[in-house]
Amino acid sequence: MGEKILVTGGTGYIGSHTVVELQQNGFEVVVIDNLSNSTATIVDQIGRISGKKPRFYELDLCNEAALRVFFRENHDLAGVIHFAAYKAVGESVEFPLKYYHNNLVSLLNLLRFMEEFEVPNMVFSSSCTVYGQPEVLPVTEQAPVKKAFSPYGNTKQISEEIIEDTVNSSALKAISLRYFNPIGAHESGLIGELPIGIPNNLVPFITQTAIGKRQKLMVFGNDYDTPDGTAIRDYIHVVDLAKAHVVAISRLLKGIHKESLEVYNLGTGKGTSVMEAIMAFERVTGMKLPYEITSRRTGDVPRVWADTTLANLKLGWRAEKSLDEMMASAWMWEKNLAAGILEF
Ligand code: WQD
Repeated sequence: MGEKILVTGGTGYIGSHTVVELQQNGFEVVVIDNLSNSTATIVDQIGRISGKKPRFYELDLCNEAALRVFFRENHDLAGVIHFAAYKAVGESVEFPLKYYHNNLVSLLNLLRFMEEFEVPNMVFSSSCTVYGQPEVLPVTEQAPVKKAFSPYGNTKQISEEIIEDTVNSSALKAISLRYFNPIGAHESGLIGELPIGIPNNLVPFITQTAIGKRQKLMVFGNDYDTPDGTAIRDYIHVVDLAKAHVVAISRLLKGIHKESLEVYNLGTGKGTSVMEAIMAFERVTGMKLPYEITSRRTGDVPRVWADTTLANLKLGWRAEKSLDEMMASAWMWEKNLAAGILEF
């Protein structure tokens, strides 16, 4: 068994896909999750895919005493991939303190115990929301971090600053990965996005509309300054994203990182509008998706897609899956959910 990696938020959407890729690359994985936005059944699903269930601790990173016990029992960790955080943009506007407390206290506790137990490597789950609406597209890692559009985005900005200050004053080495828009599901159809309640994000809303759980998709505005008037994003397959985390943690373990903190955009480098996403879904499924154009959603940026040169050249990683593959896998997962693949 290879080096031992802690994945916080490992029963979540991106976390679960990353656990599978880590295991399939020979790492031993332990998972911490408080199950606030996922279910323990995902641990069984991961085991069905990779052949080995990761050791799972139902634990809240904000619970200092419990986290200390965990680190005492797992003092041989080679690194941590930190996903665990609340991530609903709209909810963060409604309950900012819930987001600041959870997302920041969990990071602070984690960093403190990593230092105390001499765990030297962290890969951090960040987001392209730190860029706001970039002045120049595609957006590079050198683009200015702008005032966040939401408390959620602000917790990501503050977290990156906390990590930067920590690496500058300790032995910690870190890589911050700025995700664009992760969508799709594992080809096994055993894990995928698990939106509890009404989905905030576009693709789960599309698949729930197609399966009949939602009456129609609301397209939030078609009066943007874009070719078809709808907002543009850089959609990336969640498995491509997961693979980037294996590359990043391996880079730290091998000591081939160049700076104590490195930052990478994880996208495809291609912008896709809401209408183009809808058309891709219809093309792949042969279905007609009911939708209605409504007003813009507050806080949405009109256009953002990644310059992925740095990740391509320095990480040696590139997104490979197409938009059609993303939509096909998302649809397969929705159908499996409807067929009761997860009894939870
Ligand atoms: C995509 C596009 C919407 C729903 C957010 C976070 C980001 C990350 C991903 C956590 C936008 C439009 C959406 C709908 C629509 N989350 N849309 N109808 O807002 O780009 O990114 O989620 O890490 O940090 O900011 O993703 O999927 O919500 O929206 O028209 O029912 O689809 O306006 O243009 P977003 P999204």
